[in-house]
Amino acid sequence: MKNLMNTALVNKILIENDIFGYADYESLPIDKSFSTKPNDFCNVVKLFPITNIRILEEEAIDHIQHLEKNYFKERIKNLPMNITPEIMREVLTEIGFTVGTYQGYGLRIPGTSNLLPFLNVNTKQLIENFPTRTFRHQYAVAFEGWNTKFHIDHTTYDTHGYRCMIPINSPVHIVFKENNKDILYCLEPGFSYFVNIANMHRAFHPYKNPRINLSFQMNSAKLIKSVNKLNPVEWNFTEEKYKNFNLVSQVMY
Ligand SMILES: [Fe+2]
Repeated sequence: MKNLMNTALVNKILIENDIFGYADYESLPIDKSFSTKPNDFCNVVKLFPITNIRILEEEAIDHIQHLEKNYFKERIKNLPMNITPEIMREVLTEIGFTVGTYQGYGLRIPGTSNLLPFLNVNTKQLIENFPTRTFRHQYAVAFEGWNTKFHIDHTTYDTHGYRCMIPINSPVHIVFKENNKDILYCLEPGFSYFVNIANMHRAFHPYKNPRINLSFQMNSAKLIKSVNKLNPVEWNFTEEKYKNFNLVSQVMY
């Protein structure tokens, strides 16, 4: 019971202070000709193929060596709120974003949507030629054992736009609550995806090699079509290690 209370409280603080949204910091105007309500979209939608994924991986490994580990530190300074850095740290730790299991690397000049000047050409082209305007580009790197609790990142897409993920070197594992069941989606490299992070979800990384996920916000829902809904992975027929993560989720929730 204590855990449930803590998780509920932590989620309340997360949303009220817009911790994953950073208010309107680094955001762009959102195309309002589409819905901004999460319930109007499927949880994971395949957008289009990414054919040069191997080159993007090489570039990502090179970029990460040059990028600073200051993602949250840099951005949370800009939140309009009364929350202390200590509470912030407690909330992030409680949800599962801990030092050693997860690290974000911003790809733009802080405070802008302009990409850092030293980024390599393929990554730059992918982002600059993307069919929507994009912002808050980052590599979300997860290490073996990363395993978050259920949460939502924010409640609507009015300010923050729509999350796009491009798994670079390893599948991204995300579990959504659908009809009170845990439904696992496995996002394979080679495609871009919309991920409905304003619905209840959690994520984990079960592999030894760190996972690099190129993630950013799209300012429009024009690419998101429910016909391209990604089919969930059947939990009952998956590898043993997935089952273990499923059990952890039941305990953690
Ligand atoms: Fe999330």
